[in-house]
Amino acid sequence: MRFRSNVCRATVRHAKILAAVAGATLIAANAANAAGNVAHGEELYRDCGACHSIEKNGVGPSHKGVVGRAAGAVSGYEYSPELKNSKLVWTEENLDKWLAGPEKLVPGTKMFYEVDDPKDRADIIAFLREKAK
Ligand code: HEC
Repeated sequence: MRFRSNVCRATVRHAKILAAVAGATLIAANAANAAGNVAHGEELYRDCGACHSIEKNGVGPSHKGVVGRAAGAVSGYEYSPELKNSKLVWTEENLDKWLAGPEKLVPGTKMFYEVDDPKDRADIIAFLREKAK
């Protein structure tokens, strides 16, 4: 019994140390991505993954190189005429507007998915900027 409870206490201590280390890592990661948290963006991007991937077209177009590219430009993907003819360029500012309300930026678009939280949008955009090059 005594032996067991010692093990238990050691495990708790261990968990506390691990939690402290994880916390420090998170703070470092946040500082490194002051304009948006890439790791959090990656988590949020899983929801985009229902329709998108970085490499391939699906329900939505591939996101390879999306930051800085022209809207409606992925070959082999059938865009709505509204997005195709929008003449938008996916600057970070336009991506932010898009994610806040695709229908507002491009009336008639086929994308119906919004991200309400500005911080979440910044994190998703940071993820795309870093990982979808
Ligand atoms: C339910 C499906 C769905 C989800 C979820 C979704 N999208 Fe889309 N997305 C689309 C469709 C469909 C289009 C094409 C719209 C059109 O042609 O009008 C699109 C287009 C886009 C475009 C324009 C790309 C280009 O080549 O011009 C971007 C950027 C984009 N989505 C980002 C995202 C991000 C980031 C998320 C997650 C926060 C997301 N989408 C979630 C369906 C989705």
